[in-house]
Formats: sequence, C-alpha cells, structure tokens
Amino acid sequence: MDSFRIKGPAKLSGEVSISGSKNAALPIMVATIARSGIYKLNNIPNLRDTRTMIKLIETIGGKVKKNGNQILIDTKSCNNPEAPYELVKTMRASFYVLGPLLSRFNTAKVSLPGGCAWGPRPVDYHIKAFKQMGASVKLDRGYIKADGKLKAGVIDFKVSSVGATGNVLMGCMNVSDEVIIKNAAREPEIVDLCEFLIKMGMTINGLGTSELRIKGCNDNVDISIEHDIIPDRIEAGTFLASSIITQSKITIKNINLDHLQAVLNSFKQIGLQVINQSKTSITVKHEGDIKFKNIKTDIYPGFPTDMQPQWIALMCLSNGLSKMEDTIYHDRFSHIPELLRLGANIKLEKNIAIITGVDKLMSADVMCTDLRAGAALVLASLAARGSTTIGRIYHVDRGYEDFEKKLEILGVDVKRINSN
Ligand code: UD1
Repeated sequence: MDSFRIKGPAKLSGEVSISGSKNAALPIMVATIARSGIYKLNNIPNLRDTRTMIKLIETIGGKVKKNGNQILIDTKSCNNPEAPYELVKTMRASFYVLGPLLSRFNTAKVSLPGGCAWGPRPVDYHIKAFKQMGASVKLDRGYIKADGKLKAGVIDFKVSSVGATGNVLMGCMNVSDEVIIKNAAREPEIVDLCEFLIKMGMTINGLGTSELRIKGCNDNVDISIEHDIIPDRIEAGTFLASSIITQSKITIKNINLDHLQAVLNSFKQIGLQVINQSKTSITVKHEGDIKFKNIKTDIYPGFPTDMQPQWIALMCLSNGLSKMEDTIYHDRFSHIPELLRLGANIKLEKNIAIITGVDKLMSADVMCTDLRAGAALVLASLAARGSTTIGRIYHVDRGYEDFEKKLEILGVDVKRINSN
C-alpha cells in the first residue's frame, strides 16, 4: 500500500491543470452500454475508478482502447448483462450500470453495493424508480435482478439524488413515451451526462433544473459520437484550498468557473483573493488569517459534500470557532480523528463538526479513510510542520489524477512511498 510523505509547511507557486471530472466520466462511460456504437471520450482522468469502469464495460462485452486521457469504447459486442460483486464492491458507481443494461437488454443482474467508509449509501430510490417504470426487481443472493421493458412514468424523488437521477436517465434510452423526473439532481455532472445522452439520441428538456422531461430514441442503428468530459470541480476546489492553507499564490487552469461558484464564494469569505479569472482559469492568493466561518453542505448549487473534509482542514487553522454541518452524508467524518493527530481541535456533534482554529498543525503518521478525507489530510500536511506520512493513499488515487506530480509542480516536497 502506497503512502505520501509530505514536508511542511509548504509554499506553493506556479500553475496546475485540472483533470476531467471523475463523477462525470464514470456515468458517461457506462452510458455507452445503453446503445450499440463507437464512442470517443476525451478528458477521461486516469484513475483507479475509471480503470475499474473499463473492466466493467469489458465484462459486459464491450471493447475499450485507452490512449492517454482519450478512450474509445465499442459497445456493439456487449452481450453479458451482469455486473459482478468483485467489481461493484470496489466502486459503488458500478451500480450505474443497472439503467444502461435494463434499457438495452430488458434484463440486468447487478451486485448490490455494500456499505461505504462513511456509512450507509442506499440505492432504494434507484430500485423504486425502475419498479415504477415497469421492471420487476428482486434481490437474489446479494444481486439485484431486474427484468422487463422500461416504460414512461413520473418519478418523484423524495430527496434529490445524483446517483438515482443518473441511473434513471440512462434507463430511458429506449422508452418511447415521456419520462418525467421530479426533484432531479442539478449537479454539473448530471448536466454533462444529459448532454451526452442527447448526443446518443435521447430528447431531454430541463437540463440543470429539478424537472427533467425525457424521451428515449428507440433506434437500434449503431452510432458514432465524441464527447469531452467537464473539468473536475472538486479537484479544482481542493487546489483552491491548497492556496489558502499554504498562504500561496497559484494559477489553476482547465476549470469551469461557473461550476465553482459556491466553493469560490465561501473561500473568498475566509480571505481568498482572486487576482485574475476567466471562464477556464483562475489565479488566487491568500495572505494572513484564515477567517472562521460556519457552513452547511447542500445539493448543487450549494456547498458540495465532496468539499466538506477539505473545508474542515482549512478551519483547523482559522482564527476562531466554526461549524461545518454535512446535510447530505451525516456520518462522513472519519477524517476528524486523523486531523486530531496533527494537532487540530475538533468536536463532532451528530452531523456537525465544531472546529476551533489552532495556531499550527504538527506532522504525524496519519491514514486516509476515504477519498475526500485523504484530500483533507494532504491539505493539512501541507501546513503541518515536519514530515507527515499519509497511509492508504489508494483512496486518493481513486479521485485525484497525478496528485503528487501536480503538488510537486507547485513546489511541494512530496514523495510516494511504496511499502511493497
Ligand atoms: C453524493 C453527492 C455527490 C458526490 C457523491 C460522492 C450530493 C447531492 N450528492 O452523490 O455530489 O459526488 O456523493 O461523494 O451532494 N439517497 C437515498 N437513497 C438512494 C439514493 C440516495 O436515500 O437510493 C440519499 C443519500 O443517502 C443521500 C442523498 O439521498 O443522503 C443524496 O444521495 P446521492 O446524491 O444519490 O448520493 P451520491 O450519488 O452518492
């Protein structure tokens, strides 16, 4: 298992380029299964999760060629509507394959994802929606077995869910009459998926709103399409946070500024200065106190749960007492005990972290417990005095392409240590 050794306190300078979005790439890759064709996808980040998704597509019978950040997927030969436990247990996003399989084959057998490092992450909305669209869905030895041709209907989600909205959208590929999703997720990754599905032949109205009106294309002719994945807003947010915690000036390129508004506004309120910005690039710097500020995570366009751990890392060094409430995932706080090892002062009350800023963090051996928890530890270690070793970095490898190389380009003394 690899670790990072990071020497702090670090001072950053220079430019970093943001990779394609993991959370947009995964559903778009799996959507290709819904219709026979050839797909050229650009800006796919080279990550453990995207490599797992390639394996899943190959297991279903597709052919995948990788050329740097471009992948070519041929789904003409897909013939096996089954997603095995071995793959689904390593990546929850594999469950997205249920929609594409059902729409293409009218049958699917997909392993139920197990728990997650930060507690239960249910898939009941996905299942309820497919039942409402006419599928028979049964649990059989840990697998969801779904059968039947999906048909039109009105799906009204109790809570806006990124996963369930994406799965249902992909399930609509061959539905002739209108499907309406109410309380649909509005996240940029869902909008990117919609734009891709439209290229695949579907009609979708209401992109970026909470009501989507969808018609499938019901066309069996092979297609050939190309798509560029949007930049990763969480990676960009993490690098913005690195400027704050190290009191540095950096330029972040290949971003979509519109997708970063909630994060950027919150960062400005704690002292981040924007020196220069365009639609695709931003130069920021931070000097002096990190101001304390209370915040809650929310669905888009609110502050993302995927930036909650990184925000807590910043507040560890703020000039006061602040609260961070995660309203999306109530148990997503496994980074707190690790941050305490670095000298932070944090108390947890239900889903609210209460953080009292300290003057300095000190190095220690710590461990990643999930992807964004790992990002928070990397940020804290940039500010901590001494050499911090961060174990189980495989979590970070799931979501940050070339993380240590990018940090190195910005001037960080970081090494990947292979313990094998
Ligand atoms: C969530 C985040 C997403 C992030 C991802 C990984 C939101 C709205 N979604 O997506 O941005 O990239 O985590 O960190 O911030 N729920 C159910 N039953 C379901 C599906 C969801 O009860 O079948 C609940 C969840 O427990 C959660 C809420 O609905 O409280 C939102 O879930 P959802 O958006 O689906 O979560 P993810 O797709 O995991």
